[in-house]
Amino acid sequence: MINEVVVATRKNSKDNKAPIGVYFKDKKVIMHLFYGSHTYENLLTEDYFSVNVVPPIEIAKAVLDDNDEYLYYEGIPYLKSSYYAIFYKVVKREFVDREDKFGKNRLMIIEGEEIGRIYLNNTPKPYNRADGLLVEMAVIYSRLSNKNINIDENSKKEMIEDIKKYFSIIKKVGSREHKQLAETMLRNLNLL
Ligand SMILES: Cc1cc2nc3c(=O)[nH]c(=O)nc-3n(C[C@H](O)[C@H](O)[C@H](O)COP(=O)(O)O)c2cc1C
Repeated sequence: MINEVVVATRKNSKDNKAPIGVYFKDKKVIMHLFYGSHTYENLLTEDYFSVNVVPPIEIAKAVLDDNDEYLYYEGIPYLKSSYYAIFYKVVKREFVDREDKFGKNRLMIIEGEEIGRIYLNNTPKPYNRADGLLVEMAVIYSRLSNKNINIDENSKKEMIEDIKKYFSIIKKVGSREHKQLAETMLRNLNLL
């Protein structure tokens, strides 16, 4: 099962966060990082990172920028908004060239081994339908705004239709914050 989390890394005194789909296997975590992201660049050389289990809205926020309230566990950044954060040391890096419908891509497969975890005192909010839709918008947003991937015109059209449909539902059922985040994504994509 893929778990959608926020991965935080730090390089040259700069904290970075990104939504990433990870696989948990006992005390290990596996993630597939696409070439071109800061997370990829950071973990090429840095050996430590945190996996943050967060409310869905934080996954969407993480695709937009790196600003946040970071806390530190032995120098590893993690998010104050997490339900819990797990800390890992990189034990394996594997590089794979892959070709799929988004064109040719270099992947770095990272395996991390748990070195600690912290449970925070954040209370979950009731599920709102805009939560899931905003995460789906963030997935499409990250693909449409990625200069390293090629999307054919038909797929692009479908993605734009989907993102607009999700936005129309978010406007009906979501909070002010859901709507503002959705609008920022659409504005950045020149769709609003
Ligand atoms: C829900 C979700 C899951 C994602 N999973 C991955 C992933 O597994 N691997 C990856 O390389 N990018 C993934 N992305 C895309 C990255 O989050 C995106 O490229 C991001 O801009 C990278 O940020 P950074 O440059 O700060 O590292 C995902 C995006 C979303 C919204």
